[in-house]
Amino acid sequence: MKIQASNKYKKDQSIVLWSSNKDLDKYLDQNQQTFVAKKIKDKQELISIDLQGKFVFVVNIKQEKESHLEWEKYRKLGANIFSKLNTEHLESIHIIATDIDKTLFSALTEGLALASYSFTKYHSDTKKNKSYLQEITIDSTASGSEIEELNNIYKAVCFSRDLVNEPLSFLTANQLGEEIKRSAKEYGFTAEVLGLKQIQALKMGGLLAVNKGSFDPPTFSILEWKPKNPKNKRPIVIVGKGVVFDTGGLSLKPTAGSMDEMKSDMAGSAAVIGAMQAVAANKLDVHIIALIPATDNRPGNNAYAPQDIITMHNGIKVEVLNTDAEGRMILADALSYANKYKPELVMDLATLTGAAHAAVGEYAIVSMGNAPEKYKSKLAQSGKNVFERLVEFPFWEEYGELVKSDIADIKNLGGPVGGAITAGKFLEHFTDYPYIHLDIAGPAYIKANSAYRTKGGTGVGVRLLYDFLKHY
Ligand code: BES
Ligand code: MN
Ligand code: ZN
Repeated sequence: MKIQASNKYKKDQSIVLWSSNKDLDKYLDQNQQTFVAKKIKDKQELISIDLQGKFVFVVNIKQEKESHLEWEKYRKLGANIFSKLNTEHLESIHIIATDIDKTLFSALTEGLALASYSFTKYHSDTKKNKSYLQEITIDSTASGSEIEELNNIYKAVCFSRDLVNEPLSFLTANQLGEEIKRSAKEYGFTAEVLGLKQIQALKMGGLLAVNKGSFDPPTFSILEWKPKNPKNKRPIVIVGKGVVFDTGGLSLKPTAGSMDEMKSDMAGSAAVIGAMQAVAANKLDVHIIALIPATDNRPGNNAYAPQDIITMHNGIKVEVLNTDAEGRMILADALSYANKYKPELVMDLATLTGAAHAAVGEYAIVSMGNAPEKYKSKLAQSGKNVFERLVEFPFWEEYGELVKSDIADIKNLGGPVGGAITAGKFLEHFTDYPYIHLDIAGPAYIKANSAYRTKGGTGVGVRLLYDFLKHY
Protein backbone atom coordinates (compact mmCIF):
# COMPACT_ATOMS: atom_id res chain seq x y z
CA MET A 1 0.00 0.00 0.00
CA LYS A 2 1.23 3.45 -0.84
CA ILE A 3 0.25 6.96 0.16
CA GLN A 4 0.98 9.57 -2.48
CA ALA A 5 0.10 13.07 -3.56
CA SER A 6 -2.13 13.41 -6.60
CA ASN A 7 -4.71 15.92 -7.73
CA LYS A 8 -6.27 13.47 -10.16
CA TYR A 9 -9.34 11.61 -9.03
CA LYS A 10 -9.84 8.40 -10.97
CA LYS A 11 -13.39 7.29 -11.68
CA ASP A 12 -13.14 3.97 -9.81
CA GLN A 13 -11.73 5.50 -6.63
CA SER A 14 -13.67 5.96 -3.45
CA ILE A 15 -13.41 9.49 -2.16
CA VAL A 16 -13.18 11.34 1.14
CA LEU A 17 -14.76 14.78 1.44
CA TRP A 18 -15.27 17.07 4.45
CA SER A 19 -18.49 18.66 5.58
CA SER A 20 -16.57 21.95 5.62
CA ASN A 21 -15.82 21.70 1.87
CA LYS A 22 -17.25 24.68 0.03
CA ASP A 23 -17.89 22.74 -3.15
CA LEU A 24 -19.45 19.44 -2.08
CA ASP A 25 -21.79 19.91 -5.03
CA LYS A 26 -18.84 19.26 -7.35
CA TYR A 27 -18.82 15.65 -6.19
CA LEU A 28 -22.40 14.98 -5.11
CA ASP A 29 -25.65 15.02 -7.06
CA GLN A 30 -28.80 16.68 -5.74
CA ASN A 31 -30.13 13.61 -3.84
CA GLN A 32 -26.79 12.90 -2.30
CA GLN A 33 -26.44 16.52 -1.17
CA THR A 34 -29.83 16.37 0.54
CA PHE A 35 -28.88 13.10 2.24
CA VAL A 36 -25.54 14.51 3.42
CA ALA A 37 -27.14 17.74 4.64
CA LYS A 38 -29.57 15.77 6.79
CA LYS A 39 -26.80 13.62 8.29
CA ILE A 40 -24.70 16.68 9.03
CA LYS A 41 -27.67 18.13 10.86
CA ASP A 42 -27.90 14.88 12.85
CA LYS A 43 -24.21 15.37 13.78
CA GLN A 44 -23.19 12.04 12.29
CA GLU A 45 -19.39 11.96 12.20
CA LEU A 46 -18.89 9.74 9.17
CA ILE A 47 -21.39 9.82 6.35
CA SER A 48 -21.00 7.02 3.79
CA ILE A 49 -22.68 6.80 0.44
CA ASP A 50 -22.41 3.36 -1.10
CA LEU A 51 -22.28 3.69 -4.89
CA GLN A 52 -21.87 -0.05 -5.57
CA GLY A 53 -18.22 -0.36 -6.42
CA LYS A 54 -17.07 2.71 -4.56
CA PHE A 55 -17.91 4.89 -1.58
CA VAL A 56 -18.20 8.59 -1.03
CA PHE A 57 -17.34 9.50 2.56
CA VAL A 58 -18.07 12.84 4.13
CA VAL A 59 -16.22 13.55 7.37
CA ASN A 60 -18.10 15.66 9.86
CA ILE A 61 -16.19 15.84 13.14
CA LYS A 62 -16.67 18.82 15.39
CA GLN A 63 -13.70 20.38 17.07
CA GLU A 64 -12.47 18.78 20.30
CA LYS A 65 -11.17 20.84 23.20
CA GLU A 66 -7.71 19.33 23.01
CA SER A 67 -6.06 18.93 19.66
CA HIS A 68 -4.45 15.56 20.43
CA LEU A 69 -7.88 14.11 21.23
CA GLU A 70 -9.18 15.53 17.99
CA TRP A 71 -6.34 13.99 15.95
CA GLU A 72 -6.99 10.62 17.51
CA LYS A 73 -10.64 10.89 16.52
CA TYR A 74 -9.56 11.39 12.91
CA ARG A 75 -7.20 8.40 13.04
CA LYS A 76 -10.01 6.22 14.36
CA LEU A 77 -12.33 7.49 11.70
CA GLY A 78 -9.68 6.59 9.13
CA ALA A 79 -9.69 3.05 10.50
CA ASN A 80 -13.45 3.02 10.22
CA ILE A 81 -13.22 4.04 6.56
CA PHE A 82 -10.71 1.28 5.97
CA SER A 83 -13.03 -1.41 7.32
CA LYS A 84 -15.85 -0.21 5.06
CA LEU A 85 -13.55 -0.29 2.02
CA ASN A 86 -12.20 -3.70 2.90
CA THR A 87 -15.56 -5.43 3.25
CA GLU A 88 -16.17 -4.41 -0.37
CA HIS A 89 -12.62 -5.40 -1.41
CA LEU A 90 -11.92 -1.87 -2.63
CA GLU A 91 -8.37 -1.04 -3.59
CA SER A 92 -8.11 2.69 -3.99
CA ILE A 93 -9.23 5.87 -2.28
CA HIS A 94 -8.76 9.57 -2.97
CA ILE A 95 -8.76 12.19 -0.23
CA ILE A 96 -9.74 15.75 -1.11
CA ALA A 97 -8.02 17.78 1.56
CA THR A 98 -7.49 21.13 -0.07
CA ASP A 99 -9.40 23.31 2.36
CA ILE A 100 -8.80 21.62 5.66
CA ASP A 101 -6.06 21.78 8.30
CA LYS A 102 -3.30 19.43 7.23
CA THR A 103 -2.88 17.90 10.70
CA LEU A 104 -6.44 16.61 10.40
CA PHE A 105 -6.20 14.92 7.03
CA SER A 106 -2.76 13.59 8.03
CA ALA A 107 -4.30 11.98 11.10
CA LEU A 108 -7.15 10.50 9.08
CA THR A 109 -4.76 9.20 6.44
CA GLU A 110 -2.47 7.76 9.08
CA GLY A 111 -5.35 5.89 10.72
CA LEU A 112 -6.60 4.62 7.37
CA ALA A 113 -3.15 3.44 6.31
CA LEU A 114 -2.20 1.82 9.62
CA ALA A 115 -5.54 0.01 9.80
CA SER A 116 -4.80 -1.55 6.42
CA TYR A 117 -1.80 -3.45 7.81
CA SER A 118 -2.11 -7.21 7.97
CA PHE A 119 0.41 -9.99 8.54
CA THR A 120 -0.34 -12.61 5.91
CA LYS A 121 3.06 -14.18 5.26
CA TYR A 122 2.11 -17.57 6.70
CA HIS A 123 -1.41 -17.93 5.27
CA SER A 124 -1.59 -20.43 2.40
CA ASP A 125 -4.97 -18.98 1.49
CA THR A 126 -3.93 -15.54 0.23
CA LYS A 127 -7.44 -14.14 0.71
CA LYS A 128 -7.37 -14.82 4.42
CA ASN A 129 -6.88 -11.67 6.49
CA LYS A 130 -6.27 -9.84 3.24
CA SER A 131 -6.16 -6.10 3.06
CA TYR A 132 -7.30 -5.02 -0.40
CA LEU A 133 -6.28 -1.39 -0.21
CA GLN A 134 -3.45 -0.61 -2.64
CA GLU A 135 -3.25 3.16 -2.70
CA ILE A 136 -4.31 6.32 -0.96
CA THR A 137 -4.01 9.40 -3.15
CA ILE A 138 -4.16 12.81 -1.55
CA ASP A 139 -5.27 16.02 -3.16
CA SER A 140 -3.99 18.62 -0.77
CA THR A 141 -2.34 21.98 -0.41
CA ALA A 142 0.25 20.20 1.76
CA SER A 143 3.51 19.69 -0.06
CA GLY A 144 4.46 16.42 -1.70
CA SER A 145 7.26 15.94 0.82
CA GLU A 146 4.83 16.09 3.74
CA ILE A 147 2.84 13.29 2.16
CA GLU A 148 6.00 11.34 1.50
CA GLU A 149 6.93 11.81 5.16
CA LEU A 150 3.62 10.24 6.13
CA ASN A 151 4.22 7.33 3.77
CA ASN A 152 7.67 6.76 5.27
CA ILE A 153 6.30 6.73 8.81
CA TYR A 154 3.58 4.31 7.74
CA LYS A 155 6.17 1.98 6.18
CA ALA A 156 8.35 2.13 9.30
CA VAL A 157 5.44 1.19 11.59
CA CYS A 158 4.54 -1.73 9.30
CA PHE A 159 8.15 -2.90 9.35
CA SER A 160 8.17 -2.74 13.13
CA ARG A 161 4.88 -4.69 13.31
CA ASP A 162 6.25 -7.32 10.90
CA LEU A 163 9.32 -7.83 13.07
CA VAL A 164 7.19 -8.33 16.18
CA ASN A 165 4.78 -10.66 14.38
CA GLU A 166 7.57 -12.89 13.09
CA PRO A 167 8.02 -15.91 15.35
CA LEU A 168 11.35 -17.25 16.60
CA SER A 169 11.27 -19.93 13.88
CA PHE A 170 12.18 -17.09 11.51
CA LEU A 171 13.37 -14.18 13.61
CA THR A 172 16.46 -15.34 15.50
CA ALA A 173 18.95 -12.79 16.83
CA ASN A 174 20.95 -13.30 13.65
CA GLN A 175 17.93 -12.76 11.42
CA LEU A 176 17.11 -9.58 13.33
CA GLY A 177 20.60 -8.41 12.36
CA GLU A 178 19.88 -9.26 8.72
CA GLU A 179 16.64 -7.26 8.81
CA ILE A 180 18.50 -4.30 10.27
CA LYS A 181 21.13 -4.46 7.53
CA ARG A 182 18.48 -4.65 4.82
CA SER A 183 16.69 -1.57 6.13
CA ALA A 184 20.00 0.29 6.55
CA LYS A 185 20.94 -0.36 2.95
CA GLU A 186 17.57 0.75 1.65
CA TYR A 187 17.23 3.92 3.74
CA GLY A 188 20.83 5.06 4.03
CA PHE A 189 21.76 4.70 7.70
CA THR A 190 24.74 2.59 8.73
CA ALA A 191 24.49 -0.71 10.60
CA GLU A 192 27.06 -2.98 12.11
CA VAL A 193 25.98 -6.34 13.51
CA LEU A 194 28.40 -7.81 16.06
CA GLY A 195 28.45 -11.58 16.53
CA LEU A 196 29.41 -13.87 19.40
CA LYS A 197 33.19 -13.38 19.15
CA GLN A 198 32.92 -9.60 19.20
CA ILE A 199 30.41 -9.66 22.03
CA GLN A 200 32.80 -11.85 24.01
CA ALA A 201 35.66 -9.46 23.27
CA LEU A 202 33.53 -6.59 24.61
CA LYS A 203 32.84 -8.63 27.76
CA MET A 204 29.12 -8.10 27.55
CA GLY A 205 28.50 -10.47 30.45
CA GLY A 206 24.77 -9.82 30.65
CA LEU A 207 24.02 -10.56 27.01
CA LEU A 208 26.32 -13.60 27.07
CA ALA A 209 24.74 -14.95 30.27
CA VAL A 210 21.20 -14.78 28.87
CA ASN A 211 22.41 -16.42 25.67
CA LYS A 212 24.07 -19.38 27.42
CA GLY A 213 20.96 -21.57 27.34
CA SER A 214 20.37 -20.91 23.67
CA PHE A 215 21.35 -22.82 20.52
CA ASP A 216 21.61 -19.60 18.53
CA PRO A 217 24.34 -16.98 19.01
CA PRO A 218 23.49 -13.45 20.22
CA THR A 219 23.95 -10.30 18.18
CA PHE A 220 24.62 -6.71 19.12
CA SER A 221 23.66 -4.20 16.46
CA ILE A 222 24.86 -0.63 16.20
CA LEU A 223 22.85 1.64 13.91
CA GLU A 224 23.78 5.21 13.14
CA TRP A 225 22.17 8.13 11.35
CA LYS A 226 24.54 11.08 11.09
CA PRO A 227 23.47 13.93 8.81
CA LYS A 228 26.03 16.55 7.69
CA ASN A 229 24.96 19.33 10.03
CA PRO A 230 22.97 17.79 12.86
CA LYS A 231 21.15 20.02 15.34
CA ASN A 232 22.68 18.11 18.26
CA LYS A 233 26.39 18.24 19.08
CA ARG A 234 26.38 14.94 20.96
CA PRO A 235 24.31 12.00 19.76
CA ILE A 236 20.97 10.84 21.07
CA VAL A 237 21.17 7.11 21.72
CA ILE A 238 18.14 4.81 21.60
CA VAL A 239 18.35 1.27 22.92
CA GLY A 240 15.85 -1.52 22.20
CA LYS A 241 15.36 -4.82 24.02
CA GLY A 242 15.78 -7.60 21.47
CA VAL A 243 14.75 -10.79 23.26
CA VAL A 244 13.53 -12.73 20.24
CA PHE A 245 11.77 -15.22 22.50
CA ASP A 246 11.46 -15.26 26.27
CA THR A 247 10.80 -18.66 27.89
CA GLY A 248 12.02 -17.29 31.21
CA GLY A 249 15.08 -19.54 31.04
CA LEU A 250 15.59 -21.86 34.04
CA SER A 251 13.12 -19.68 35.95
CA LEU A 252 10.74 -20.98 33.31
CA LYS A 253 7.50 -19.12 32.72
CA PRO A 254 4.48 -21.17 33.75
CA THR A 255 2.95 -22.55 30.53
CA ALA A 256 -0.61 -21.39 31.16
CA GLY A 257 -0.67 -18.34 28.93
CA SER A 258 2.33 -16.41 30.11
CA MET A 259 4.67 -17.58 27.34
CA ASP A 260 2.15 -17.31 24.53
CA GLU A 261 3.05 -13.81 23.41
CA MET A 262 6.76 -13.86 24.07
CA LYS A 263 7.83 -13.66 20.44
CA SER A 264 6.97 -10.01 21.05
CA ASP A 265 9.77 -9.58 23.60
CA MET A 266 11.84 -7.81 20.96
CA ALA A 267 9.21 -5.10 20.43
CA GLY A 268 11.54 -2.50 21.94
CA SER A 269 14.13 -3.28 19.30
CA ALA A 270 11.45 -3.24 16.60
CA ALA A 271 10.40 0.25 17.72
CA VAL A 272 13.96 1.50 17.68
CA ILE A 273 14.70 -0.02 14.26
CA GLY A 274 11.44 1.37 12.82
CA ALA A 275 12.21 4.82 14.23
CA MET A 276 15.70 4.72 12.74
CA GLN A 277 14.23 3.79 9.36
CA ALA A 278 11.69 6.63 9.52
CA VAL A 279 14.33 9.16 10.60
CA ALA A 280 16.67 8.14 7.76
CA ALA A 281 13.91 7.96 5.15
CA ASN A 282 12.83 11.48 6.04
CA LYS A 283 16.39 12.71 6.53
CA LEU A 284 15.86 14.36 9.91
CA ASP A 285 18.61 16.72 11.03
CA VAL A 286 19.57 14.82 14.17
CA HIS A 287 22.48 12.56 14.96
CA ILE A 288 21.15 9.27 16.32
CA ILE A 289 22.71 6.01 17.38
CA ALA A 290 20.64 2.91 18.07
CA LEU A 291 21.85 -0.13 20.01
CA ILE A 292 20.14 -3.52 19.87
CA PRO A 293 21.26 -6.38 22.11
CA ALA A 294 19.52 -9.54 20.88
CA THR A 295 19.17 -13.17 21.95
CA ASP A 296 16.49 -15.64 22.93
CA ASN A 297 16.14 -16.65 26.58
CA ARG A 298 16.04 -20.42 27.05
CA PRO A 299 16.69 -23.08 29.65
CA GLY A 300 19.18 -25.02 27.46
CA ASN A 301 21.98 -27.21 28.81
CA ASN A 302 24.37 -24.46 29.71
CA ALA A 303 21.74 -21.91 30.75
CA TYR A 304 22.60 -19.26 33.33
CA ALA A 305 21.16 -20.10 36.72
CA PRO A 306 19.66 -18.32 39.70
CA GLN A 307 22.43 -17.28 42.14
CA ASP A 308 24.98 -16.96 39.33
CA ILE A 309 27.06 -13.81 39.61
CA ILE A 310 27.68 -12.11 36.30
CA THR A 311 30.30 -9.47 35.57
CA MET A 312 28.76 -7.00 33.20
CA HIS A 313 30.30 -4.93 30.35
CA ASN A 314 31.14 -2.08 32.75
CA GLY A 315 32.44 -4.36 35.50
CA ILE A 316 29.42 -4.22 37.81
CA LYS A 317 28.72 -7.63 39.36
CA VAL A 318 25.12 -8.78 39.25
CA GLU A 319 23.58 -11.52 41.33
CA VAL A 320 21.00 -13.32 39.21
CA LEU A 321 17.98 -14.29 41.25
CA ASN A 322 15.56 -14.87 38.44
CA THR A 323 16.60 -15.77 34.91
CA ASP A 324 13.27 -14.41 33.67
CA ALA A 325 14.52 -10.92 34.50
CA GLU A 326 16.70 -11.22 31.39
CA GLY A 327 15.73 -7.96 29.68
CA ARG A 328 17.61 -5.84 32.20
CA MET A 329 20.67 -8.09 31.85
CA ILE A 330 21.04 -7.47 28.12
CA LEU A 331 19.93 -3.81 28.25
CA ALA A 332 22.48 -3.09 30.98
CA ASP A 333 25.34 -3.99 28.66
CA ALA A 334 23.93 -1.85 25.86
CA LEU A 335 23.42 1.09 28.23
CA SER A 336 26.98 0.94 29.50
CA TYR A 337 28.25 0.58 25.93
CA ALA A 338 26.36 3.84 25.16
CA ASN A 339 28.63 5.73 27.57
CA LYS A 340 31.39 5.78 24.98
CA TYR A 341 29.39 8.15 22.77
CA LYS A 342 29.11 10.80 25.53
CA PRO A 343 25.45 11.05 24.55
CA GLU A 344 23.23 14.02 25.14
CA LEU A 345 20.35 11.72 26.07
CA VAL A 346 19.70 7.98 26.11
CA MET A 347 16.28 6.38 25.90
CA ASP A 348 15.56 2.69 26.02
CA LEU A 349 12.39 0.91 24.94
CA ALA A 350 11.64 -2.53 26.32
CA THR A 351 8.88 -5.00 27.04
CA LEU A 352 10.49 -5.18 30.43
CA THR A 353 7.98 -6.03 33.13
CA GLY A 354 4.62 -7.66 33.69
CA ALA A 355 4.25 -5.02 36.41
CA ALA A 356 4.16 -2.21 33.82
CA HIS A 357 1.61 -4.16 31.81
CA ALA A 358 -0.55 -4.75 34.87
CA ALA A 359 -0.37 -1.09 35.92
CA VAL A 360 -1.50 0.55 32.70
CA GLY A 361 -2.78 -2.19 30.37
CA GLU A 362 -2.36 -1.69 26.65
CA TYR A 363 -3.18 2.01 26.89
CA ALA A 364 0.08 3.59 27.96
CA ILE A 365 3.84 3.46 28.06
CA VAL A 366 5.37 3.50 31.52
CA SER A 367 8.15 6.07 31.61
CA MET A 368 10.73 7.03 34.21
CA GLY A 369 14.20 8.48 34.34
CA ASN A 370 16.64 11.10 35.55
CA ALA A 371 16.83 13.23 32.40
CA PRO A 372 16.12 16.99 32.76
CA GLU A 373 12.50 18.00 32.69
CA LYS A 374 12.79 19.60 29.22
CA TYR A 375 13.38 16.19 27.63
CA LYS A 376 10.69 14.47 29.65
CA SER A 377 8.05 17.05 28.85
CA LYS A 378 8.91 17.04 25.13
CA LEU A 379 8.61 13.30 25.08
CA ALA A 380 5.31 13.39 26.96
CA GLN A 381 4.04 15.92 24.42
CA SER A 382 5.07 13.62 21.57
CA GLY A 383 3.23 10.82 23.36
CA LYS A 384 0.07 12.89 23.19
CA ASN A 385 0.66 13.99 19.59
CA VAL A 386 0.89 10.43 18.29
CA PHE A 387 -1.41 8.97 20.96
CA GLU A 388 1.21 6.68 22.43
CA ARG A 389 0.84 8.29 25.78
CA LEU A 390 3.29 8.14 28.68
CA VAL A 391 2.60 7.61 32.37
CA GLU A 392 5.54 8.72 34.45
CA PHE A 393 6.45 6.53 37.42
CA PRO A 394 8.63 7.76 40.29
CA PHE A 395 12.34 7.12 40.05
CA TRP A 396 13.18 7.74 43.69
CA GLU A 397 16.29 6.56 45.48
CA GLU A 398 14.27 4.41 47.85
CA TYR A 399 13.32 2.06 45.01
CA GLY A 400 17.01 1.66 44.23
CA GLU A 401 17.53 0.11 47.69
CA LEU A 402 15.43 -2.84 46.56
CA VAL A 403 18.00 -4.08 44.02
CA LYS A 404 20.97 -4.11 46.42
CA SER A 405 22.56 -7.53 46.81
CA ASP A 406 24.08 -9.27 49.86
CA ILE A 407 26.73 -11.00 47.85
CA ALA A 408 27.36 -8.81 44.77
CA ASP A 409 26.92 -5.17 43.73
CA ILE A 410 23.26 -5.47 42.73
CA LYS A 411 20.70 -8.19 42.03
CA ASN A 412 18.44 -8.56 39.02
CA LEU A 413 15.30 -8.89 41.12
CA GLY A 414 13.53 -6.25 43.19
CA GLY A 415 11.08 -6.91 45.99
CA PRO A 416 7.45 -7.87 45.70
CA VAL A 417 6.37 -4.31 44.91
CA GLY A 418 7.21 -1.65 42.34
CA GLY A 419 8.47 -4.16 39.79
CA ALA A 420 8.51 -1.75 36.85
CA ILE A 421 10.42 0.85 38.85
CA THR A 422 13.01 -1.48 40.38
CA ALA A 423 13.76 -2.72 36.85
CA GLY A 424 14.40 0.89 35.82
CA LYS A 425 16.55 1.55 38.88
CA PHE A 426 18.60 -1.54 38.05
CA LEU A 427 19.25 -0.14 34.58
CA GLU A 428 20.19 3.28 35.94
CA HIS A 429 23.36 1.71 37.44
CA PHE A 430 24.71 1.34 33.91
CA THR A 431 24.10 4.91 32.79
CA ASP A 432 26.33 7.93 33.05
CA TYR A 433 24.17 10.43 31.15
CA PRO A 434 20.62 11.81 31.13
CA TYR A 435 18.40 8.76 30.89
CA ILE A 436 14.76 7.88 30.14
CA HIS A 437 13.43 4.34 30.41
CA LEU A 438 10.25 3.38 28.54
CA ASP A 439 8.54 0.12 29.48
CA ILE A 440 6.24 -0.83 26.59
CA ALA A 441 5.15 -4.24 27.96
CA GLY A 442 1.50 -3.13 27.88
CA PRO A 443 0.96 -1.55 24.44
CA ALA A 444 3.50 -3.55 22.38
CA TYR A 445 1.28 -6.48 21.54
CA ILE A 446 -2.52 -6.77 21.49
CA LYS A 447 -4.90 -9.71 21.08
CA ALA A 448 -7.53 -8.04 18.90
CA ASN A 449 -7.67 -5.12 16.48
CA SER A 450 -8.34 -1.80 18.12
CA ALA A 451 -9.14 0.80 15.42
CA TYR A 452 -5.86 1.40 13.55
CA ARG A 453 -3.80 -0.68 15.98
CA THR A 454 -3.86 -4.09 14.39
CA LYS A 455 -3.74 -7.29 16.41
CA GLY A 456 -0.30 -8.68 17.26
CA GLY A 457 2.60 -6.25 17.19
CA THR A 458 1.39 -2.65 17.28
CA GLY A 459 4.63 -0.90 16.31
CA VAL A 460 4.31 1.27 19.42
CA GLY A 461 7.28 3.57 19.91
CA VAL A 462 8.07 4.21 16.25
CA ARG A 463 5.81 7.22 15.89
CA LEU A 464 6.65 8.39 19.41
CA LEU A 465 10.40 8.44 18.79
CA TYR A 466 9.99 9.93 15.33
CA ASP A 467 7.82 12.77 16.60
CA PHE A 468 10.23 13.46 19.47
CA LEU A 469 13.27 13.52 17.20
CA LYS A 470 11.51 15.62 14.58
CA HIS A 471 10.75 18.28 17.17
CA TYR A 472 14.21 18.15 18.70
N1 BES B 1 9.36 -10.11 28.87
C1 BES B 1 8.98 -10.13 30.23
C2 BES B 1 8.00 -9.02 30.60
C3 BES B 1 6.64 -9.06 29.96
C4 BES B 1 5.58 -9.68 30.61
C5 BES B 1 6.38 -8.44 28.77
C6 BES B 1 4.33 -9.69 30.03
C7 BES B 1 5.14 -8.44 28.20
C8 BES B 1 4.10 -9.07 28.82
C9 BES B 1 10.22 -9.96 31.13
O1 BES B 1 11.38 -10.51 30.62
C10 BES B 1 9.91 -10.67 32.40
O2 BES B 1 9.80 -11.87 32.37
N2 BES B 1 9.82 -9.91 33.49
C11 BES B 1 9.56 -10.47 34.76
C12 BES B 1 10.55 -9.88 35.73
C13 BES B 1 10.52 -10.49 37.07
C14 BES B 1 11.04 -11.90 37.02
C15 BES B 1 11.38 -9.64 38.00
C16 BES B 1 8.14 -10.12 35.15
O3 BES B 1 7.72 -8.99 34.90
O4 BES B 1 7.46 -10.97 35.68
MN1 MN C 1 11.60 -12.57 31.09
ZN1 ZN D 1 11.56 -10.62 28.62
